[in-house]
Parts: sequence; structure tokens; C-alpha cells
Amino acid sequence: MGVRTVLRMGDPRLLRVSEPVTQYGTHELRTLIEDLWDTMRATDGVGIAAPHIGVALRVVVFGFNANPRYPDAPPVPETVLINPTFTALTDELEEDWEGCLSVPGLRGAVSRPGRIRYRGFDAGGAPIDRTVDGFHARAVQHEVDHLDGILYPMRIRDMRKFGFRDVLAAGITPDG
Ligand code: NI
Repeated sequence: MGVRTVLRMGDPRLLRVSEPVTQYGTHELRTLIEDLWDTMRATDGVGIAAPHIGVALRVVVFGFNANPRYPDAPPVPETVLINPTFTALTDELEEDWEGCLSVPGLRGAVSRPGRIRYRGFDAGGAPIDRTVDGFHARAVQHEVDHLDGILYPMRIRDMRKFGFRDVLAAGITPDG
């Protein structure tokens, strides 16, 4: 229990399609969620999915008031989201910079729908249904991708917009 090792890109466990949670309120699920929060906070993450720590279950947690890795990001409510699905509410894609706990030190520009409706369940199995945009929408989509074995570099269309965070921060991307 506690802070777990975050797998890094190249580990085949990050490429698996995770299984749905079938039972809520179990000791195993509670422990997994605690470990995800502990690990996310220890790494200054804004979100983390179970595959990041080698668990192939459709569980993500995200949210923060302020985050040093994304100083310009507005607060996102702290959320446990299980078996998530989402639908895009716009055809328009927004491009913005993303980082990932499994791809340390790097940032890349990824285009995603700017407004989504997402649904899922909280730790006790109660339904969640939200319509969000901006950073919140991007964070959910990034974490749901992990449940399907997708890392954000796979979504970068222009590889010129992929590089080391500290180098990029000195040049084109003040949000680092
Ligand atoms: Ni990630």
C-alpha cells in the first residue's frame, strides 16, 4: 500500500486493454484507489490510471486545486472514475501540450475534442455523469486512453511538437 512504482513507456503492461471493474466496495478496490492517489500526489500528477502502476483495471483518479507541473491549469474536482466512457460534444479538436507520468520529462502536442460528456462510477458504484471542457476534458481523455493501452505520443500528429519539457518551456510553450 502507498506509493507504487510508475511504469515507464516501453513496458508492455502499459499497452494492455484493461478489464472492467465488476465489484464495488471491495478491499482490493479501496486499496488500489488509495495507492493511485498516493502515487499521483507523490509524482505531482494531475491524474493517474491503474495501468500506470501495472494494474489492468478500468480505474482512474484525477483532480487537483493547483499543480506545479501545470501551473496555468484551472482546478479540477478530485474524482475517482471507474469503468469510464465518454462522447465528444464537438467535432472541433483542440491542440494542447500533454505530459505523462510514464513518459517523464517530455511533452507533446495532442489534438482532442475540446468538450466531452463522460460517465462512469465512483468508488462506491454511484454513477457519475459530467459535461466538461478544457483541461478537465483533456485529462479524462488522456487517462481513459491508458485503459485502452494508448500513450499520448501515439496521438501526436506532428512530431516536431514533441520534446523535453525544459527545452520546450524555454521556447514555444510557456505552460511547460
Ligand atoms: Ni499518462
